[in-house]
Amino acid sequence: MNKFAIKIYGCQMNVYDGDRLRTAMMNRGWQETTEEEADVICFVTCSIRDKAEQKAVSEIGRHECLYKKTGRPMIVLLGCMAQRVGQEVAKKFTSIKVVAGPRHIGLVPDALERVMKTSEKEFFMDTDPRDLEDLHVCPTAGTNPFKSYLTISYGCDRFCSYCIVPYVRGRLQSRNPDEILVEARQLVQNGVTEITLLGQNVDAFGKDFTAQKYSFAKLLDATSQIEGLQRLRFATSHPKDFDADILDVMKNNDKICRAINLPVQSGNTRILKEMNRGYTREDYLVLVERIKTALPDVSLTTDLIVGFPTETEEEFLDSCSLLEQVKFDIVHTAAYSIRPGTRAATMVGQIDEVTKNRRLNEINAIQFKIAKEANEAYIGQTMEILPDGFAPKGRGQIQGRTKTDHVVIVDGTENDFGKLLTVEITGANPWSLEGTRKE
Ligand code: SAH
Ligand code: SF4
Ligand code: F3S
Repeated sequence: MNKFAIKIYGCQMNVYDGDRLRTAMMNRGWQETTEEEADVICFVTCSIRDKAEQKAVSEIGRHECLYKKTGRPMIVLLGCMAQRVGQEVAKKFTSIKVVAGPRHIGLVPDALERVMKTSEKEFFMDTDPRDLEDLHVCPTAGTNPFKSYLTISYGCDRFCSYCIVPYVRGRLQSRNPDEILVEARQLVQNGVTEITLLGQNVDAFGKDFTAQKYSFAKLLDATSQIEGLQRLRFATSHPKDFDADILDVMKNNDKICRAINLPVQSGNTRILKEMNRGYTREDYLVLVERIKTALPDVSLTTDLIVGFPTETEEEFLDSCSLLEQVKFDIVHTAAYSIRPGTRAATMVGQIDEVTKNRRLNEINAIQFKIAKEANEAYIGQTMEILPDGFAPKGRGQIQGRTKTDHVVIVDGTENDFGKLLTVEITGANPWSLEGTRKE
């Protein structure tokens, strides 16, 4: 029996692709194993920042030494980095046998079987940004039996000036809503109680349809009707695509979680313009107010880049003040990383690494304090969690998420997984809450 391992880098879309690939390979009789024992290791890679790519290359380098001695493991390079630099990287490593862009993942299972016999390199690049050879498999052998991701649209058309995604994931293409609903039903039949709908701009779903009209709000509503599904989440929302009807659907629907990831990227209007985000600081704040008014218990999270080319100290402070003003539950911060081929990469006024890292540390310290205070405010409240795994620190404790996407750690066993549990919050730190069960 052939043995494979999958290694995931980057975003939730890669987790979904990895889960589908695992399911497809298991359906063909392959066995999943550790990296050490695998005949083939699939690297599902990310190109969002330079560091993400370096990490994958150094891991592949480690396996290359073993491959040269023993002929195992063979490497399959998938995901965004495969699309961006796969040809070059495959020249450096003899162990790399298959390279496929994110929109050609459907051709990978057959290629894997061929490569076991021939050991010849095969390339499946997305030569046209509208290409699509998808893997039509419902990820029933996912990483977590109770939770699943479900990608509803491919690619992105926004071309933010710093971002590699439109170049590696191609143009926006929404999946057929009926096909999405069939897949969601299948996941639920298979024991999944929580689905997260995914898109780079999940709220742009349907905006590329010409023949039919179908909005993201409608898809949210339809998915939530599936019997047996307990919770529905979605990510990532672009502020420009977050239409009012999404809030109308959420307001009246208890299954849709009160958690919205709304990346702001900067708190300064001039930088936002340079980033090509399409909104001002004020527009963003108005949207936040609209969301908070419609959903008073909502949890808002965001993404933010510091040290974008030409960002002055004052402009950086606008990002800090925005965090103070909105008080997000989580902020995913990053220092700007040059992505070759994007508009910002050749801008005059790149910020030096020392300054970028200092700004990153400063803004993280601000958010640390905000998150700690925000989490402490939950102490004493009763919340409902959906336990889905053991807590990282040892057995006897499990963890689950609230509707607002807060992690709560509580005493329990695997018998609690996948079933809603009411808890009282007894403790808090910046990353998670502690609770005791209330039965
Ligand atoms: N589609 C989403 C997020 C895509 S990428 C959106 O529109 O926001 C995930 C995050 O990576 C981004 O939100 C951004 O904060 C970060 N990111 C993207 N390109 C980056 C770059 N060149 N340097 C640093 N961070 C980057
Ligand atoms: Fe990248 Fe912007 Fe598209 Fe998000 S919206 S994936 S940041 S180009
Ligand atoms: Fe990375 Fe590609 Fe996702 S660049 S963040 S894996 S879309």
